[in-house]
Amino acid sequence: MQGEHREVELPIGPTEATQRFRIPVADRVHRLPPYLFARINKLMYEKRRAGADVIDLGMGNPSDPPQDIVVEKLAEAARDPDNHGYCESRGILNLRREVAAKYFKQHGVRLDPENEVIVTLGSKEGFSHLCLALLGPGDTAIVPAPSYPAHTYAVILAGANVISLDVTKPDVFLSNIAYTCQNLFPRPKLVIANFPHNPTTTVVESDFYADLVRLAKRYEFLIVSDLAYADVTFDGYKAPSLLALPEGMKCGVEFTTMSKGYNMAGWRVGYCCGNAEIIRALATVKGYYDYGMFRAIQVAAIVALRKTDAAVEAQSREYQKRRDVLCDGLERLGWDIERPKATMFVWAKIPEPWASSMPSVDFAMKLLQEADVAVSPGGGFGPIGEGYLRLALIENQHRLRQAVRQIGRCLGQVARPRRSAAAGLATNPEPSVPGAG
Ligand SMILES: Cc1ncc(COP(=O)(O)O)c(C=O)c1O
Repeated sequence: MQGEHREVELPIGPTEATQRFRIPVADRVHRLPPYLFARINKLMYEKRRAGADVIDLGMGNPSDPPQDIVVEKLAEAARDPDNHGYCESRGILNLRREVAAKYFKQHGVRLDPENEVIVTLGSKEGFSHLCLALLGPGDTAIVPAPSYPAHTYAVILAGANVISLDVTKPDVFLSNIAYTCQNLFPRPKLVIANFPHNPTTTVVESDFYADLVRLAKRYEFLIVSDLAYADVTFDGYKAPSLLALPEGMKCGVEFTTMSKGYNMAGWRVGYCCGNAEIIRALATVKGYYDYGMFRAIQVAAIVALRKTDAAVEAQSREYQKRRDVLCDGLERLGWDIERPKATMFVWAKIPEPWASSMPSVDFAMKLLQEADVAVSPGGGFGPIGEGYLRLALIENQHRLRQAVRQIGRCLGQVARPRRSAAAGLATNPEPSVPGAG
């Protein structure tokens, strides 16, 4: 790919309307893998422009609002003239204190807000800059596969190499990490953990981190845990933290975010906590790139962390209900579905005959084109995601039922009647699917 250029046309004068310039994009841009969601996004844009009512289960972008007291605090803080200057890049101390308080409440972890907590402009920004702080050419990071795209792109943009390891069976993931460390030289410098996992929804218990930390000490790698879905868990499951192990604090850091549980995705509030030296390295890189987050947002985030636990739990319960609506519906169409214990996604196996006859991106295009339902193709998260779709639980229950009906109609699948758990009797059949023969 070296030496490849993109061409743009620029008007440069009244007599010469346009002239071609060669724009030599940096090599790091050429190292990025192709973006498989582009086709879907383009079609979705065209459909919406043409007036179609697309049911969007594509992106993990919460559609419910943050709590009123949080928005009101933002408005009040925005009216304060003292809040409009540049801010500390690592975030105001009171917000870092509140993050430490939340870690203690949620995971029993004591953090020093001065040295072990940093505020980031969403966890994606923090993760990307952390890769710049820790990785460079010649370094290797182990990334869970299929992958949340930033886990791969940020490593590549830092100039380092990616080894993708299947994450769907955490024991196998661990033994593959050990095998890679034994056989690769120089050894991997960083292992990225992401449980609950986007996109597969795989979860772990705390003994997973104990094993991972043992490997980190033996093979001397750093751990970055992405705990983006800590606040979105179901059926009594609680997502453990790497930092709950004293040794976890020694060899790694963990990212959390207000995007998911607090419905504040557009606000761009995330945190990185853990090993003080790693936090310092991130703070150094961030200090060169940004002037910190708008102070009014940080003040409102404090209120959200301090006062809206009940709303975060209610939001999780709502995702759980949506999960059940979507999984029940797809199961009745004959899909083989595993119910997630966390995240805001369902990772669904594409049914036959489509799984073996078309790539996941074509199947997703078919659902968008013919059913007006947007989903993410598993292949967009790397080759190991082929054969799957990721459906985000961001539409309400009514729209999810509608999505199932439209999918059934498009695929010619007939909804089986619901069965009563006690008697195994058919009850309350799903409304018939027009055209589903
Ligand atoms: C696993 C994972 N990490 C990080 C992020 C980014 O979150 P943020 O909005 O905090 O940047 C996401 C968003 O979808 C995610 O799924």
